[in-house]
Amino acid sequence: MTVATEPTTGAVPPPSKEDVITVNKMNKWYGNFHVLQDIDLSVRKGERIVICGPSGSGKSTLIRTLNRLETYQSGEVYVDSILLGDDVKNIEAVRREVCMVFQHFNLFPHMTVLENLTLAPIWVRKMPKKQANELAMHYLERVRIAEQAHKFPGQLSGGQQQRVAIARSLCMQPKIMLFDEPTSALDPEMVKEVLDVMVELAKEGMTMLCVTHEMGFAKEVADRVIFMDAGQIVEMAGPKEFFDNPKSDRTKLFLSQILSH
Ligand SMILES: Nc1ncnc2c1ncn2[C@@H]1O[C@H](COP(=O)(O)OP(=O)(O)OP(=O)(O)O)[C@@H](O)[C@H]1O
Ligand SMILES: [Mg+2]
Repeated sequence: MTVATEPTTGAVPPPSKEDVITVNKMNKWYGNFHVLQDIDLSVRKGERIVICGPSGSGKSTLIRTLNRLETYQSGEVYVDSILLGDDVKNIEAVRREVCMVFQHFNLFPHMTVLENLTLAPIWVRKMPKKQANELAMHYLERVRIAEQAHKFPGQLSGGQQQRVAIARSLCMQPKIMLFDEPTSALDPEMVKEVLDVMVELAKEGMTMLCVTHEMGFAKEVADRVIFMDAGQIVEMAGPKEFFDNPKSDRTKLFLSQILSH
C-alpha cells in the first residue's frame, strides 16, 4: 500500500486507521462554479452511507472524486490511507479497491454478460480465463442471474443489466462500492430486485456509499444519511434521527417533497 506523504495543504492530521475514506476540507470548481464546498467526511470500514439531495447539489461529483473520476482543487481525499491526488500509482491503487455502479449500467453491448464480467479480472488482474469465468459465475449466481451468462446486455431487462453491473464490480473484489442512483433508470417493477441485491451486500459488510432517493433502502441499511444541497453537506445523521428529526430547513423541505410522492 502507498501511504500518503504529501497532503496538499499540509495542515490536516493523517486519517484515522479505522477510516477507509477520509475527506478533509475538499473543494472543487468547474470553472467559476464552486461545485463542492469544504467537504468533510469520514467513512469507517463496513459503513453504509446514503447520500441524497436535490438535482445538481453535487452528489455524483462527490462520489466520483472518491475514485478520481473527478479531480478536486483543494483539501485531501484519502482512501485506505492512500492520498488520492495526481500521483498515478496512488490513483491505480485506489481504483483497485473502489468500484462504482452507475445509473446507466455501462456494460459493453458487444460482449456477453460473462465477457463483461471477466474483462477486467483477465486484463487488469491478469487472472487466468478459467478462474475468471468461475469468479464471474459465482457472482452471477449471487445476483441471481447465472442463467443469463451467455446473453448480450441488450437481451436483458434493465434490472437484470444493473445486477450484471453489480456482479461485474464484485468480480474486482473491491473494499468499497460506490453507487450513483443505481435504480433511478429502472422501471418500478425492477427496482426491488436491484435493491434486494444491494441490501444483501450491505448486510454482508461491504463498505458502501450510495446516492439514491430510495428512502426505504436508506431506512433499512444506512448507518448514516447525508443530505447535500448546493455543493455542501448540509446534514449527516443516523437514519432515525435524519428522518424523524431533521435539523436543517433545507433537509425538511427536501424530505417533505420526496416523501410526499
Ligand atoms: N463536467 C461538468 N462541467 C461543468 N459543470 C458540471 C459538470 N458536471 C456537473 N456539473 C454541474 O455541477 C453541479 C453538480 O452536478 P452533479 O452531477 O454532481 O449533481 P447531482 O447532485 O448528482 O445531481 P442529479 O441528482 O441530477 O444527478 C450541477 O450544477 C452540474 O450542472
Ligand atoms: Mg447525479
